[in-house]
Amino acid sequence: MPRISTDLDRAVALLRAGGVVAIPTETVYGLAADARNPAAVRRVFAIKGRPADHPLIVHIAAAEAMPEWARDIPEAAWRLARHFWPGPLTLILQRAPGVPDEVTGGQNTVGLRVPDHPLTLELLRRFGGGLAAPSANRFGRISPTRPEHVVAELDEAIDLILDGGPCSVGVESTIVDLTGRRPTVLRPGRVSLEALEHVLGEPVALSTGEDGVRAPGTLAAHYAPATPVLLLPLERLWEEAARRVAAGERVGVLTYGLPRTCPGVFVLRLPGQPAAYARELYAALRAMDEAGYACILVETVPETSEWLAVANRLKRAATAHR
Ligand code: TXA
Ligand code: MG
Repeated sequence: MPRISTDLDRAVALLRAGGVVAIPTETVYGLAADARNPAAVRRVFAIKGRPADHPLIVHIAAAEAMPEWARDIPEAAWRLARHFWPGPLTLILQRAPGVPDEVTGGQNTVGLRVPDHPLTLELLRRFGGGLAAPSANRFGRISPTRPEHVVAELDEAIDLILDGGPCSVGVESTIVDLTGRRPTVLRPGRVSLEALEHVLGEPVALSTGEDGVRAPGTLAAHYAPATPVLLLPLERLWEEAARRVAAGERVGVLTYGLPRTCPGVFVLRLPGQPAAYARELYAALRAMDEAGYACILVETVPETSEWLAVANRLKRAATAHR
């Protein structure tokens, strides 16, 4: 039987039996297991090669299921859920009793989200419970945004890959922690700080993420291709490219600005609009990684809030090789 399929009945049966299934979401593909089954969740960690103290996001079918996973749910959570779910927003809440330690990494909080993908929403409804799912990549590597990326990352290790086509958002969900004194974004994503503030009617903080332990997705070396990535403004980028080509290196360039040709340099041009850029970023990094360049030179993106999620991922891809 094909491991890439759209067979929801088979996916539900596998998940009920403690299996691991790759699922499409609007952000990136996830590696899902029954969140109430500790052995199944441990398999997810083993497949990813992820340290056991890193918590997973629980995907649920609707906001009404929040109380099954969280307690002392603040009004802010209901408000954000009403406004942004299904959608690319994860809420960190106090965990309800009985949520397995395997899911929360032993913390007293739990991450919840309703993903906006028709196939996975239908899967969640039929499954009836919550699905613990990190991104379907090996620990520290680029998240998959197409089913074939999951095949490339995890190969034979998983039971089934649900084919939901390419992901429409392309970078991981915005994570907002609602357990502190003030709402705090732990990981920027498509849902912006301003959008959160607008819905909440109060200021939202942005964590620098350097504390790493609570949200490994914010560790410096994350989302990294194997090839070294250098982030440079356009002019310096072309100088660097020319210098490296003269030194005999094969160089790849990722730009969104005016395309330019430079002998010996492979140029990949992404859209100049942040949402469209985000949608294509991981596939582009993956393609350049596979092409075997000595390095990937990436044009820096604007320091505006609409580019924040992309800038965050690029910085981490570059930092991984310092
Ligand atoms: O868009 C997404 O969020 C994707 C799709 C599959 O839903 N998932 C994803 O999962 O990116 P993962 O495991 O690669 O990243 C989840 C992030 C991690 O940085 C983790 O530390 C954080 O969420 N997280 C999960 N539960 C948490 C908790 N209780 N407290 C703090 N951070 C938490
Ligand atoms: Mg991840």
